[in-house]
Formats: sequence, structure tokens, C-alpha cells
Amino acid sequence: MPDASATESMLTETRRFAPPADFAAQAHVKSMAEYEKLHARSIAEPEAFWSEVANELHWFKPWDAVLEWNLPDAKWFVGAQTNLCYNCIDRQIDAGLGDKVAIVWEGEAVGPDGPEILRLTYADLLERVSRFANVLKSKGVKKGDVVTIYMGMVPELAVAMLACARIGAVHSIIFGGFSAQAIRDRVEDGKSKLLVTCDGSWRRGKVVPLKANVDEALAMTDRVKDVIVFNRCGVAGTDQAPMVAGRDHDWATLVDGADPTCPAEPMDSEDLLFILYTSGSTGKPKGIMHTTGGYMVHTYMTSKLTFDLKADDPDELYWCTADLGWITGHSYIIYGLLPNRCATLMFEGGPNHPAPDRFWDIVERHKVTKFYTAPTAIRAFMKWGDEHPERHDLSSLKVLGTVGEPINPEAWVWYHETIGGGRCPIVDTWWQTETGGHMLTPLPGATTTTPGSCCRPMLGIDMAVVNSDGEEVPHNTGGILVCRKPWPGMLRGIYGDRERFVETYWSKVPGMYCPADGARIDPDGNFWITGRIDDVIVVAGHNLGTMEVESALVSHPAVAEAAVVGFPHDVKGTGVAAFVITQGELPEPGSDAAEQMKKDLVAHCGKELGPIAKPDQVRLTTALPKTRSGKIMRRLLRDIAAGNEITSDVSTLEDKGIVEKLQEG
Ligand code: WT7
Repeated sequence: MPDASATESMLTETRRFAPPADFAAQAHVKSMAEYEKLHARSIAEPEAFWSEVANELHWFKPWDAVLEWNLPDAKWFVGAQTNLCYNCIDRQIDAGLGDKVAIVWEGEAVGPDGPEILRLTYADLLERVSRFANVLKSKGVKKGDVVTIYMGMVPELAVAMLACARIGAVHSIIFGGFSAQAIRDRVEDGKSKLLVTCDGSWRRGKVVPLKANVDEALAMTDRVKDVIVFNRCGVAGTDQAPMVAGRDHDWATLVDGADPTCPAEPMDSEDLLFILYTSGSTGKPKGIMHTTGGYMVHTYMTSKLTFDLKADDPDELYWCTADLGWITGHSYIIYGLLPNRCATLMFEGGPNHPAPDRFWDIVERHKVTKFYTAPTAIRAFMKWGDEHPERHDLSSLKVLGTVGEPINPEAWVWYHETIGGGRCPIVDTWWQTETGGHMLTPLPGATTTTPGSCCRPMLGIDMAVVNSDGEEVPHNTGGILVCRKPWPGMLRGIYGDRERFVETYWSKVPGMYCPADGARIDPDGNFWITGRIDDVIVVAGHNLGTMEVESALVSHPAVAEAAVVGFPHDVKGTGVAAFVITQGELPEPGSDAAEQMKKDLVAHCGKELGPIAKPDQVRLTTALPKTRSGKIMRRLLRDIAAGNEITSDVSTLEDKGIVEKLQEG
């Protein structure tokens, strides 16, 4: 059970930030009293509440029932037909908004004339999406087929995902930072026959070899029959990214020859929309399944309320800095945003290229109004120095969001003052790949926020902190975070693994969804996330299973056994610490051989799993601290990794001298 109340956070809890009165007056939800009334009603009458939200969107056929709930299976908007791509694009065109900008894209490189910028109107987007949808059809893709997408942050990535949604293909997007092994595993798990990629992607001025990773992955499976390659870096067809005859096709050639119209397929509300993989406590990532109607309604409403989006404000420009390969990108760059008739900005590159003020330069040039990023990025900005944001006019900003991990109050206050000029409400949004959209968050015009707290449940969401019997615990007492009622954006399962779905989310607390986070509620009713209660660590805002890293380590010939834990890291939030028993003789501590081995192991994890999984600390050892019953004492390892005084009871350790050895390790 997580610790109830850290003194530090109790102290900072006394600082409160009320929404500025002029902001609140214009907001969708204007006060705490209004929020409380709306929330109470949404919980008391969920079907009426959600159907009112759904009615703001387009349906080919209305629902027979709002919800059918057989724990743990929910069906939302039963019997209805809709299409999410239609709601992202066509609905706006039907309303006469075809010339309105939908996507503003900025490339990473900055040439003498500035960066490459592309503005796609809803009409432009419709044509591009329709052409690519026809390309997919011409390659034999049918409703329900899984299309794997592994691309950089180019507009074509958004086009590819929307094209899938348009024809009812299920996309499985893989973050461009993942390795060949991850691609192979996901292609196999999804039985995917078609893959869309780029020759490479730009990252800090260098080409990330996406196509080469795909080729390496496809050497390990013969599942994929067609690969569509978008030539972003100009290396497609060269030695860096050779095209395989008969399998690989050039994006531009296919699109040029395709019909520019393609009707949106009426989809059943519960038809699968996408699969997205996330790490779990056991080695294998889980393919989280999201369906069409409920996910659409949840992401639409939460985008509107959390960021207070204004469809009628021609200056509204929203920017989420996440990659489309994560759920944050799926829900809060494209799917929740476009149905709100707002312009969404996509940026191709990293935050410090060519200089550490790149993000603020973008905010100033484009006049971004709503900005959404992660605590790990905010902490990096703090380190880089205030002079970078201070060089820029950030006065267009109105709401600042954060997501992915708990934000420390110091970073929160810095974000509020230095980026928000003390004027912008901060929304600390708690949710997961599995929840589809926001679950706990302030509403910017209503909530008085406290740095470090993600405040209150979203409308329609029934969150609580309970003990393992499902009983609510008193205020300021640590417990298990749960959701007590089904919600539209909830996951519908783990692809191909029913048992794991039930076991992971529905077995810890009877009758309730358990996200595996610890939490407490303060006397004001605000939620505080205290950390994961399973073997998942959140590194720089990304889930990482400690077992995944352990499996990667033991696949290296020099490793006999490995244990991986998280430790507090001042930028990433949580860093990765690996304790490794070597195969054969242990190299002399501090020797070149030992240092080389550590470097090799870090590189090996990067190669197997991707850069996020690279350990920040490696300790080589001859043994791990185990109890007599053979269990690795993870709490002890966490203390060692954090450099803490050892508070664990080590009396049950088999080899008591091991602690000192590991500390030196
Ligand atoms: C886990 C979900 C949701 C998109 C990004 C991550 C942690 C997420 C917060 C927050 C404290 C947070 C939780 C959660 N988390 N947001 N605002 N405050 N913790 O999605 O990879 O599915 O990870 O991230 O531990 O369970 P994900």
C-alpha cells in the first residue's frame, strides 16, 4: 500500500490557485458549484448525460440503448452506427467549415527561411485521407483488418490513422522510438498484413532509420505482405532504406494514382477502432482495444472541457507535444480535437533542436492558445534555464496541461509562472492508455488547483480511493485508485487475451476497474496519485514493465540474472536501475571491463526495447538480495538505487554482506 501522506506534499497543499475571473466567465464550466452539480447529475443519470454529449456528434444510425453493462464488458451506444473519421472531418465540411485549418504541421529542420510549415484545412485533410483510404483498399485492406503504422511525426501519420478509421480498418500505431523486436511482436500479435512506415524520421537533425528497423523486424516474420513507405528523409530506395520489390511501395506514387473520394464506412459503435500496446507487469506488452462510438464521445467531451476548447474562436490553436504513437497523441492530437472543430498543431522534432527554446519559438510564432506536455519535459525546461522561455512572447497561451506521471509541485509552479505568466490555469490530467481519455483533472474555469494534485473526476467518471474490499478509505489515507462505473472510453479488452484483461483490471477490487495506481484524497476532495502499485514504472511519462527490461537484459549472453527497479530521477521522474548477475566471472568493480560491460548492457536494452528502456544505473553483482523463500527484495533494491539509507528489514536475507557489495557495485 502506498504511503499515506508525505510531509512535503502536505506543506505545498496550502498553495491554491483559483481560475482567473475573466477566464472563468467565458469557460464551458464556470465554477466549482457548477462542476459539482454537473458531476453529481452525470453520475446519477449516466445514460442521459452521455447521450446528450453523443448528440453533439454525427451518427448514421441512432442507438437502441446507451449502455449495456455486464461486468467487465461494456457496450456503449448499442446498435448505433457512426464513423470517427467522418466526425473528425466531414462533419465540419458539412457545416461549411471546409476552409478552416484542421492541422498545422511544423517540420524539425530550420532552414534560412525558417522551418517547413504546412496548414491543412478540413477540405485538404478529407482529400488526403480519402486518397490514402483508397490506397489501403487497393492493397486489399478490409474492415476489421489490422494495419500497422510505424512513422515519424509527419502529417501522413495522421492521414494514415484517419484513413484506417474511414474504412473501418483497425490501426496499430507503434511509436517511432521502438525497435525492430517491438515491431515484430506487434505485427505478430495483431496478425497484420500491411505496414505503413517512413524511410526515416528527423530527430535532432539526424535520420532515425525507421525503414531499416522495419526490414529487420520483417526478417523475423513473414506476416506482412505490403509495406507502404513515405519518403520523408529522401533516403527511400538508397542503401539506407532499400525498397524490396513486390513488397515495398512508394506512398506518393500510390496516392497520386488514387481516387480522391472515398465514403466513410458506417461502423457499429462497438467495432474495433484501434489497438495500442502498453507495458504491463509481465514481460509481454498488452494490446489495448478501443472501439468506435464510446471512445469518440469520451475524447470529444474531455478535449472540450479539459482544455476549454472554443470551436468559434478563429485564434484557437491547440498543441499537444506528445507523439501520435502514444495514447496521448491518439486522443489529444487527433481524435478528441478534430471533432471539436479546432486546429491542432503537430511538431515533427525534439524540444531542443536547433536550440532549447524551440517549443517557445513555436508557441510564439503560431500563437498557440492551449499547450499540453509532460512533467519530464517541464523538468528538462527548468534545467535548461529561464532565459529560453523568457526570450519569447508567450502571451497567446490560455491553458497549460500536463500528463503522464505525477508532477512535483516545484515544476508545477515553474510551469505556471514561467510559461503561463501566472495567468493560465494548469490542468494535471490523470488517465491511461486503458481509459482512452481523461479521468481525473481540473476544469480550467472551475477548479481551484493545488500543485501536484490532479484534482477531481471528469464529468461522468466515478473515481474513488478504496481498500481491497472496495470500501472508501478516509481522507488523506492511502488506498487503491478505482473507477466504480463504466465509462464510454474504457478499454474493451486486451487483444487476444481475455484472461489477462480480467485478471489485470477486474480482479484486484471486486466489481471495480483497477488501474494499479495508489492514491489518496485530501480534505478538499482533491485526488493525489502516489504511484504505481504493480511492477510497472513510469519513466519520462511512459509505462515500462520492469520485467520487460529484465527479459531484455537476460537475453544478453553476459547476463545470468537481472532485477530492475525504479528510482527517483530529477528529470525523468523515475529512472531505471538494473542489478545484474553476470555469467561467468564478475569483472573487477571500476575496471574498464566492468564499465564496458555496463555500457554494452545499456545499449542492448536500447536495441531490444527502445531508448526509453535504457538503464540509468547498472550494478554488476554475483548475487541478488533474496529472502530465504527466494523472493528478490525489491524494496531493498529501490533503496540502494535511490542512495537511501537502508530501512528494509534485512534479517531474512540469505547473504547479509550483499547489501554493501551492491551499494559499491
Ligand atoms: C499511467 C498510465 C495517459 C497518457 C500517458 C501515460 C501515470 C498518467 C498521470 C498524472 C500521475 C499519471 C499513472 C497511470 N499517470 N498521468 N497526471 N499524474 N500519474 O499513459 O502509458 O497508459 O500510463 O501513467 O501511473 O496509471 P500510460
